[in-house]
Amino acid sequence: MTLTTTLTIPRPDDWHVHLRDGSILEAVVGHTAAQFGRAIVMPNLTPPVTTAEQAVAYHQRILNALHKTAPGSQFKPLMTLYLTNNTTAEEIRRASESGVVYGVKLYPAGATTNSDAGVTDVLRYCGAALEAMQECGLPLLVHGEVTDPSVDLFDREAVFIDRIMIPLRKQFPALKVVFEHLTTAEGVAYVSEAEGDIGATITPQHLLYNRNAIFSGGLRPHWYCLPVLKREKHRLALVEAATGGSKRFFLGTDSAPHVKGRKEQDCGCAGCYTALHAMELYAEAFDAVGRLDQLQAFASENGPAFYGLPVNQDTITLQRQEFEIPDQLQLGDEVLVPLANGRKLAWSIVKA
Ligand code: DOR
Ligand code: ZN
Repeated sequence: MTLTTTLTIPRPDDWHVHLRDGSILEAVVGHTAAQFGRAIVMPNLTPPVTTAEQAVAYHQRILNALHKTAPGSQFKPLMTLYLTNNTTAEEIRRASESGVVYGVKLYPAGATTNSDAGVTDVLRYCGAALEAMQECGLPLLVHGEVTDPSVDLFDREAVFIDRIMIPLRKQFPALKVVFEHLTTAEGVAYVSEAEGDIGATITPQHLLYNRNAIFSGGLRPHWYCLPVLKREKHRLALVEAATGGSKRFFLGTDSAPHVKGRKEQDCGCAGCYTALHAMELYAEAFDAVGRLDQLQAFASENGPAFYGLPVNQDTITLQRQEFEIPDQLQLGDEVLVPLANGRKLAWSIVKA
C-alpha cells in the first residue's frame, strides 16, 4: 500500500460556522474564507438575527469584513434566521425570498451561547413558521439538546431525539432538517435510519476527541463546547458516520470564537475555534482510520447535495506535511486560542 501524500478535492464548504460581528468578524472571516467556498453562518448574535432584513444587513457586514481583510476572496456567506416563539410565516417567506437566507436555526432557549431568545416549545409556538419553511423548502437547522435541568448534560442529545425531533418530524414530514453538530451514537443511528430529508453536520473536535480531553491533566476550557464532547464509543460512531459513505453526513465545523479571557474564566464560554485549521483537523480524523478517500464526499459533496447547490468548481490541495497549530492568534486587539494549540497535525493545506 502506498501512502497518500497529496489530496486534491473540490473546495469544501462549512455548513455550520459562527463568524460573530465587529472586530471578531474581521479577525476570523479570512480563516473560513481561506479554506471554504461557502459557509452557513449562525445567527446567534446579540441581538439575534431574527428577521430577513437583519440577515441581509449581517450578510453585507460579512462581505465588508471580507473585502477589508481578504480582498478578492470569492467566499460566499449563506445566512440563517434565528427562530423564536414569535417568528411569523411572513418573516419566513421574506427570508426565503431575500436570496441570502438558506436555513432557520432552532436554539432551544438556554441551550447555548446567546440562546436566551430561543424557542421554549417548538411544537406549541412555531407551527406556522415550520409550515412556511416546509412550503418554501427552507431547512430547519437544529441544535438538538433538551434544556431540562433534570436531564444529565451528556444525555441531552439522545433525549432531544425522543422528545422533540421525532414528534416534530412526524408533524412536518416534508421539512428539510439538519441535525447540527451531532455528538452521539444515538444521534448517528437516528439520522442514518430516519425517513425523509434529513442530514447532520459533524465537527472536527467530535471526530478527534472524547470527553477525556476536557479533563486531561486539569480543566481544559478550550475543549469545552456545546454539545459537549462525549465518551469514546460516541466518537467512534461519529467517525464511522462521517467516513462510511452515507450522504447524510457532512462537514460543519461549529467554529465558535471566544476571546481567550472569555474561555479562561469562572464561567467559561462554550466553543472551539477551528476555522484556522479546519481541513487539517478533518484530514487527521479521516487519515486515522484510513479513509481519506471519503473526505471529498463529506467535505465537498454531501452538503451541497442536501442544500440543492452545486459543488464548488475550484479545488484545494492537502499534503502530508506537518502543521503546527499556533499557541494563540493575535488578531487585531483580540487573542484567540485555536483548538489543540501547540499540537502537530500531519496534513497541511497547500497555499495557492
Ligand atoms: O460550543 C458552542 N458554541 N456551541 C454552540 O451551540 C454555540 C457556540 C457559540 O456560539 O459560541
Ligand atoms: Zn454552533
